[in-house]
Amino acid sequence: MTAPSAAAMPRSRVPRGAIARFWHSSIGKKAVMAVTGVMMVAFLIVHVLGNLQMFEGPLKINEYSAALHRLGMLLWLARGGLLAALVLHVVAAYQLTRRSQGARSVGYADREPQVSTFAARTIRWGGVLLLVFIVLHLLHFTFGTIHPAFDRKDVYGNMIAAFQMWWVAVLYLLAMIGLGLHLYHGTWSSIRTLGLTRPSADPFRRRVSAVLAWAIYLGFSIIPIAVFAGIIK
Ligand code: HEM
Repeated sequence: MTAPSAAAMPRSRVPRGAIARFWHSSIGKKAVMAVTGVMMVAFLIVHVLGNLQMFEGPLKINEYSAALHRLGMLLWLARGGLLAALVLHVVAAYQLTRRSQGARSVGYADREPQVSTFAARTIRWGGVLLLVFIVLHLLHFTFGTIHPAFDRKDVYGNMIAAFQMWWVAVLYLLAMIGLGLHLYHGTWSSIRTLGLTRPSADPFRRRVSAVLAWAIYLGFSIIPIAVFAGIIK
């Protein structure tokens, strides 16, 4: 059961203004989640392609990173957009979760999920863990606070030093499994929310989500594996 729509609320509680009413409705929040999700997936595609330059040696990836930093104001604009997308995504997810819990007086504890996948059942906790990962990841590779030998100008060396430690490689690999599952279910529901396919058990939607999630998962995971295996050194 979903929360009451804006139309079903008492007049005094319906927010004024089209944007406020849109944000207040459950479908509005789902649409915000879908659009911000697409923005973050676009970032991840660029990020994974950037990371794969590790296979071309230190000069290539360090120059790529330096070129990004030379973008200055443009880079900060992109970072601002990404941060805004992340905040909106998390707030909408939190509020939708609260609504669906509040709308259901008796839980579904004794019901076996029949059609839901593992990715669907773990989407909320997976999202929380991904948030923790993002904070640790920024402290690790962007600010260098928790990196033992951080050099701002040597992205290549930073990754080699990090993933030569087995537990760091394992932590990243586990986080990437979480990311893959989140992306699979997230993409699937975004396509449905945005109405890009018919509302059915649509194999096309399933295929698009699976290909995207696998490609991003493998693209990220191959770096810690290659460093730890000594293929990149
Ligand atoms: C094995 C997986 C990953 C590796 C090896 C990796 C590596 C890196 C490195 C080396 C940087 C610093 C780049 C630079 O300073 O030029 C970075 C930045 C970043 N990464 Fe990752 N990353 C991974 C996965 C992810 C994931 C899954 C996310 C998001 C969910 C993510 C989000 C970010 C963000 C937001 C930045 C900061 C970008 C900026 O400077 O504006 N990364 N990553």
